[in-house]
Formats: sequence, structure tokens, C-alpha cells
Amino acid sequence: MPCLGRPCATAAPTLATSCAALPPEGALAPWGGPAALEPFLIIPMTSPSGAPHHIAIVMDGNGRWASKRFLPRIAGHKQGIDALRHCVRACANRGVVVLTVFAFSSENWNRPQEEVSGLMDLLIIALSREVPQLRSDGVRLHFVGDRAVLSERVRAGLAQAEAATADNTRLIFNVCFNYGGRWDIAQAAAKLAARGEAVTEAALGAAMALAHVPDPDLIIRTGGEQRLSNFLLWQAAYSELFFSDRLWPEFDEAALDQAIAAYSQRERRFGRTSAQIASPVGQKIA
Ligand code: FPP
Repeated sequence: MPCLGRPCATAAPTLATSCAALPPEGALAPWGGPAALEPFLIIPMTSPSGAPHHIAIVMDGNGRWASKRFLPRIAGHKQGIDALRHCVRACANRGVVVLTVFAFSSENWNRPQEEVSGLMDLLIIALSREVPQLRSDGVRLHFVGDRAVLSERVRAGLAQAEAATADNTRLIFNVCFNYGGRWDIAQAAAKLAARGEAVTEAALGAAMALAHVPDPDLIIRTGGEQRLSNFLLWQAAYSELFFSDRLWPEFDEAALDQAIAAYSQRERRFGRTSAQIASPVGQKIA
């Protein structure tokens, strides 16, 4: 099993436990996930910088960033898009293979109507501005969430952005939009029920909206709050958590490196003991 650039003792179990659905023996993709998903990830999994394979981020603090400057909240979201652009590039440069961000939650519909429609407009504008660059930077966009209630205009924008970047393999960039962890678990369970399939961990994992990527290794939340807020509830089972006091628009490369450095100090045991992790036998995938 290849090493992620940090001690193999921690790397090997990461790969084993991050599989959404274990395929038949011998059918593992290089990153440890289902071979059927291999076309999504043809990049080598070793990151020379020791960066986590999959980083997920709750980008919190846009509103406070704006309020501190006596600006409307939407100005904070605009600034948040700038921070996101830099973050995507920084992750790609550090060898991160998957980046997943929480852009609009199932609960964000409860915000003032003006802010909700402002976020929808921003999304459309951001897509038209950013997709050409993402495309040439090798970034593949996926939107994750319930599209059924989104407007036709937004749905079309998401589909076009995904199609325009579908051949890219450098970084998989999942944007969770109208997403909630509970929604994801419920929709996965509904899929199994409709197919008359038994509910097992593997089957449920494979039916999740993020089944195309391994589980996040590191989840970062900015803005000083320390909770998941319905983000990746299923997939976060063994993720390392990092909370930053920085407001999202202020989360720069140095802050990202701080989170990665903290992650690299963690011992990921996945239910095993430290001694097992330290022994070469303990690293073997059962
Ligand atoms: C949370 O900050 C942030 C959001 C709900 C939106 C996140 C969106 C972006 C970073 C921009 C990208 C957006 C799109 C549409 C692609 P908050 O508003 O809850 O901040 P607060 O806690 O300070 O009020």
C-alpha cells in the first residue's frame, strides 16, 4: 500500500477505512477505494508535501467578516469566493487529491430571502468566472446535494460546470450545495429501499452522494465554532478535525498549512492501539 508522505503507520489504515464500499478481493483502486471509481482518480496518491488525501472545509465566518467592516453579508460571501479560489489552488499545489467544501446547507434556506437569492446569484457568477480557470488547472467539479429544489438556472449552471471539467484529474473539487449530512444518509437509505437491497454499511456508503471519493482525512472549520453543522455526518467517522478561529475570508495559505501541520501530528488509529499502528503487522489491511 503506498504511503501518503507521512508515516505509513497512519497512512495504511486511512485507505482501508475510507472505502465507501469494498469491492471484491483484488478489485481495489490504487487509492484503496472501489476499482469501479478508478477513472475519477488516476493521480498518484502520494503527496510529497505530506498533505491529507482529502480535505473538507466548513467555510464559516463570511457574515462576521462583512459585519466587522459595516458591509452587507453578501460582501462577506463574495470575499469568501476569493478565499476559496486561493484555497483550491493551494490544495492542488500541495498534492491534495480531493477538496470538499460546504457552500450552502439544507438549513441555509432559513436565512433572509435576500441573502439566499444573493448566494444563488453569486454561485452563477462564480461559475461563469471561475470554471475556465478551474478547467485549465486540472480541477474536476462535482456538486453534491439535493438539486431537485434548485431553480432551472442554477441546475443548468451546475451541470455545465461539471461537464466542462469532467476530463480533469488533478484535483476533485466537491462543492456541497443544498447539502446536509442527514439528507445524504436518508437519500442513500431510500435508494436501497427502492432497489430492495439490504441495508449494510457498505451498501449505504456506496449509495451516498460522496461515494465517488474516499472519506475526508481532515475536516477544517473556520470561524471559531466547533461543530459539524450537518456536514459529512457519515463520512466524518474517522476524520481528523481542525478548528480555526480565522473567519473564512481570512483563511489563507499559511492557515491551510497550519491545519495540515496539525494533521500530520495526529496518530490515526481507526480503533486500533498505538502499538498495533507502530507494528508493520498492524498496518496490514485485513
Ligand atoms: C458561512 O458563513 C458561509 C456560507 C453559508 C456560505 C459559504 C459560501 C462561500 C464561501 C462562498 C461560495 C459560495 C458559493 C455560492 C459558491 P456565515 O455566513 O454563516 O458567516 P457567519 O457565521 O459569520 O454569519
